[in-house]
Amino acid sequence: MTLSRTDLMALVAEANLAPSVHNTQPSRWRLDHDGGVLLLEDSTRRLPVGDPLGRDAEVSHGAALEGFVLACAQKGLAVNVDQLPLQAGSLRPVARLGVEPGAGQDPLRAQVSVRRTYRGAFAPGGDAGRLAPLTANADAILVSRADGVARLAQLNDEASLRTYRDKAFRAELVSWMRLSSRHPRWALDGLNAEAMEMSGFEAAGAGLVLKSGIFETLDKAGVAGPLVSEAKVVRSAQAVVLFHRPEDEPPLETGRRFYRLWLEFTALGVAAAPMAVLADDAAARTAIAAAFSVPAGRRLITAFRLGVAPARSRPPKPRLPVEALIV
Ligand SMILES: Cc1cc2nc3c(=O)[nH]c(=O)nc-3n(C[C@H](O)[C@H](O)[C@H](O)COP(=O)(O)O)c2cc1C
Repeated sequence: MTLSRTDLMALVAEANLAPSVHNTQPSRWRLDHDGGVLLLEDSTRRLPVGDPLGRDAEVSHGAALEGFVLACAQKGLAVNVDQLPLQAGSLRPVARLGVEPGAGQDPLRAQVSVRRTYRGAFAPGGDAGRLAPLTANADAILVSRADGVARLAQLNDEASLRTYRDKAFRAELVSWMRLSSRHPRWALDGLNAEAMEMSGFEAAGAGLVLKSGIFETLDKAGVAGPLVSEAKVVRSAQAVVLFHRPEDEPPLETGRRFYRLWLEFTALGVAAAPMAVLADDAAARTAIAAAFSVPAGRRLITAFRLGVAPARSRPPKPRLPVEALIV
């Protein structure tokens, strides 16, 4: 069947609520001449330093694709996905999607408008039994003992400090940070201070600490580590989920599952934030595989810290207008 542009706009707006690395929102969409939809990558939104192989970009496309599938299911439409061979180019085709009548409703879809990354400290307490359904997932290791969470908090700080020592990594990260609400892209993309749970004062401080020269000086004095430490926030988590997938799985598939798992957290009433550095940093990854028995042949994709976010109203998530996503 052939979708109208109006149909596509509604589906894409919903698909774009999916998580993406640094909120780069790299997925683009086009009505194909044969009535299907082309999913494309805006390669100018890659992170050459933080994601040199483009894996995180591909996981982000997978999440957006799953968002598109969930939006279609709500309208009774099934999506048939044909992944396209890797090509170069600034607007790179990723997959061709055929859309046909026939899908049933998906209960996770109700969580799409609720889910968001929560990076602050979690509310104390929390019902430990609430997370028990997650143990049914063969790709999720639930770490709920306080000593396990504390060990992961420590590994996260050590791995983050190693990563922050790379000047190019910091520059790239800062280029996606919107540290003041006066930033022209504050509501559009990237990581704004509100989404990072920073006050204006903290945001200004973070901008300063990450600056070339200043970071190195602070690091020599032994204070860069404590300044970028997230350990207190991580230790406030009720649990950490280690998300692992088959080593040879195409990252587009991984991204689909990444989003569904996160929507499962939302359905259980818990908020989450990924700690990708635990999977990206070789020393942290190796320590985690040994300490928490990640099965052989599996790749650690990320570690999510989970807990209850304090109740308060939050502004809309920064997102590009749908017109910019249809090309
Ligand atoms: C592959 C991938 C890796 C991510 N890694 C991190 C991370 O290490 N730390 C973090 O705070 N958020 C991480 N995120 C979450 C994104 O920053 C977040 O999805 C994006 O800012 C959009 O916000 P939202 O999730 O509230 O919609 C990651 C997301 C994806 C898809």
